[in-house]
Amino acid sequence: MRNDAELLDHILSHIDNGTTDLGDEIWYEPVENYSSQARFDSERRLMRRLPIPFCPVAALPEPGSYVARNSAGVPIVVVRDLDGTIRAFRNACRHRGMQLAEGSGYTKLFRCTYHGWAYRLDGQLEYVPHDHGFPNLDKDNNGLVPVHAVNIQSGLVFITQDQPVGPGALESLPDLLSDDQVLFDSDEHEDNINWKLTAEGTLEGYHIKPTHPESFFPYGYDNLNVIELQGPNSRVCFPFRRIEKLRDAPRENLSLDRMVTLVNRIFPFASVTRLAQHYNVSLAEPESPTRTRYFSYKLTLPIPDGGAPTEEILARAKKDAAFLSDTGNKEDAKVVSDIQAAIGSGANTHYQFGRFESAIGHLHRNLARYLAQLNEIEHSPSVPGI
Ligand code: FES
Ligand SMILES: [Fe+2]
Repeated sequence: MRNDAELLDHILSHIDNGTTDLGDEIWYEPVENYSSQARFDSERRLMRRLPIPFCPVAALPEPGSYVARNSAGVPIVVVRDLDGTIRAFRNACRHRGMQLAEGSGYTKLFRCTYHGWAYRLDGQLEYVPHDHGFPNLDKDNNGLVPVHAVNIQSGLVFITQDQPVGPGALESLPDLLSDDQVLFDSDEHEDNINWKLTAEGTLEGYHIKPTHPESFFPYGYDNLNVIELQGPNSRVCFPFRRIEKLRDAPRENLSLDRMVTLVNRIFPFASVTRLAQHYNVSLAEPESPTRTRYFSYKLTLPIPDGGAPTEEILARAKKDAAFLSDTGNKEDAKVVSDIQAAIGSGANTHYQFGRFESAIGHLHRNLARYLAQLNEIEHSPSVPGI
């Protein structure tokens, strides 16, 4: 990944020459992959066997903070335990399977609402009401069941539910979030689209002028992006026109804050976007071939010297987020829902992603590679995961 000074010089050369980053190949993606149940099932099985961002670390600010939701269709609860360790468990009671937590919040204990079994935040089964009804129960072997692995990296909590098929996003993860950013909003919503359509819409600037003529284009450029690949992840830079004011700025310690939008695709289902006045973390939970739930978290830009954000910083971040959701995000949502509605038209057997759209080809290429690995592992029971 280029640093901000290198990125600036690269962007200025594109501005001066009327060029953009170009990939080497055209990618052809079968249209069937956006609606097939078999493909969806494979993607979901893969999701359980890769490190997947579950939430930002900032969503678990203190011992007892938890977030519960489905990931790859499996109810999971992630919690910061009393000594500060972040843990992830399957959200199911060991008695008869009731879910133990819902949404997000703070607790000292997970107490099952069905019959009252209670678990410590480290998963240990602590209390069974009327336990003479379970004379042989070994409490040590009936704690909450952890996922295969939890990794804290770049300000995100990654969970890997089962034996991984490979390192996935963690093969080479860029710096994303830092400790001095403050979470100021979170929400979830559902769209009737395949998750890949939304991902694709964030990974190229070829569409900025025609799709966003009055929202993004007046501040940006027509088809001008810097595309960087890191492991299976990618970062797509969309410069604002005001970046040209930095032409003669000293390059030492140069910052492109507020001068670019940087979309980081965290392979394959998540993104962390650095916008003009805030960051947005978007976590896709595919629910069917044509339905996806999104969990989104909004954070401030890094706050100089840490500490609490000023009213002004928060107001700017919220205004930036509101501008996006009122304008460009709606324009993108209409495009993807129109594409989804036309998927059965029979017009295309494949979608074609050109040289401006190489970050999308990169996503599909790596997804195909990992699905092939999964297929190989699933059909060779003697070959364990990596
Ligand atoms: S299912 Fe949890 S206590 Fe019975
Ligand atoms: Fe867009």
